[in-house]
Amino acid sequence: MAGEKKVLRFGIAGAGRMGQIHITNMIETRFIEVTAVVSVLPHELEWAKENVDGVTLFSEFDEFIKSDLFDAVLIVTPNKLHKDNIFAALHNGKHVFCEKPISPDAKSAWDVYYEAQKFPHLKVVCGFPRRYVPAYVEAAKKIKNGDIGKVINIRSQTTDLIMNNEYFVNYIKTSGGIFVDCCIHDIDVCLFLLGEDKTPSSVFATGTTNVFPVFKEFGDVDDGFGIIQFESGDVIFNVYGSRDNQHGHHSTTEVIGTKGRLVVNGQPRLLNLDVSDSTGTRMEGAETQMQVFGPAFKNEIEAFRDYVLYDKPVNFNLKDAVKAVSIGAALMDSVHDSALTEVKLY
Ligand SMILES: NC(=O)c1ccc[n+]([C@@H]2O[C@H](COP(=O)([O-])OP(=O)(O)OC[C@H]3O[C@@H](n4cnc5c(N)ncnc54)[C@H](O)[C@@H]3O)[C@@H](O)[C@H]2O)c1
Repeated sequence: MAGEKKVLRFGIAGAGRMGQIHITNMIETRFIEVTAVVSVLPHELEWAKENVDGVTLFSEFDEFIKSDLFDAVLIVTPNKLHKDNIFAALHNGKHVFCEKPISPDAKSAWDVYYEAQKFPHLKVVCGFPRRYVPAYVEAAKKIKNGDIGKVINIRSQTTDLIMNNEYFVNYIKTSGGIFVDCCIHDIDVCLFLLGEDKTPSSVFATGTTNVFPVFKEFGDVDDGFGIIQFESGDVIFNVYGSRDNQHGHHSTTEVIGTKGRLVVNGQPRLLNLDVSDSTGTRMEGAETQMQVFGPAFKNEIEAFRDYVLYDKPVNFNLKDAVKAVSIGAALMDSVHDSALTEVKLY
């Protein structure tokens, strides 16, 4: 019918910590319907039943993905399942929005990239909300415009408020490591800000386990420090990640150019509010990344909706998402080997 608005029907694979945030956002987003949810945990299905009107619930991914109740799938399952979930989605004719990382190791991430090329009629993106944060978008524009001259260094960090519980320690076990799971956001931001087809060449990384010694047993660190070189040799990227920040969530990115400097989220500020009293002046800090980037998680889903329904351009870049895994995996290898490590691009 003329003038009728299209609606994107979504199936959600995974209704855990992040899945429930996405589902809640989607319910509040116009022209999106959540029609199906799959989870292996009964209490999450119960949550979905209570929170999503008319939803169909599944406990088996293979049965869920064959359903014709939805046209796009949001993959919010553990990282190690992403590749198989995406392959199954493509082979069942679904568009894909996958949570980061697209897959936790370089080879399987590139497998996803090449498989996606075989289905040009289906959209495949990896969610990176910072590509939808106004300050990052503006920084990218200024860099492209030459406002800070030639970029010679990007420094970016993601430091999360310490979360010391069993759920978190179990999550870390299968996360793929700090550079693949947490700092993948910084790596993607670096690729987004550089804004051209830069080829990463080698990395060096190291780290510590002062706060969570058990992470060593998982081949991981609680604080990681990396340096990334590109084939062009004209720009260096420094990345830092922490799982044990005491003052809350603090993600920040600094870009140094030959004619100037940009800083996104320089201070871990929750509100544009300074409080002064007899102890001095302080700001209100953010505890979680949702407090800082919450709106961007909605923006990225709206952008994906319009990409699928109207073919509108997006800030997402599947090749960057895959390169980001190659860089993150090389950084983890470098931590293990204490050596300069080649970035494997398949
Ligand atoms: N963008 C971000 O900043 C951000 C933040 C946190 C997590 N994440 C990503 O979100 C994803 C999920 O993380 P989480 O913290 O929500 O984890 P979680 O463990 O809380 O949830 C995982 C979900 O996957 C489901 N699941 C597990 N095995 C399954 C299977 N075989 N079939 C179907 N469902 C299955 C579980 O039932 C659960 O619903 C991960 O990829 C993670 O990297 C992204």
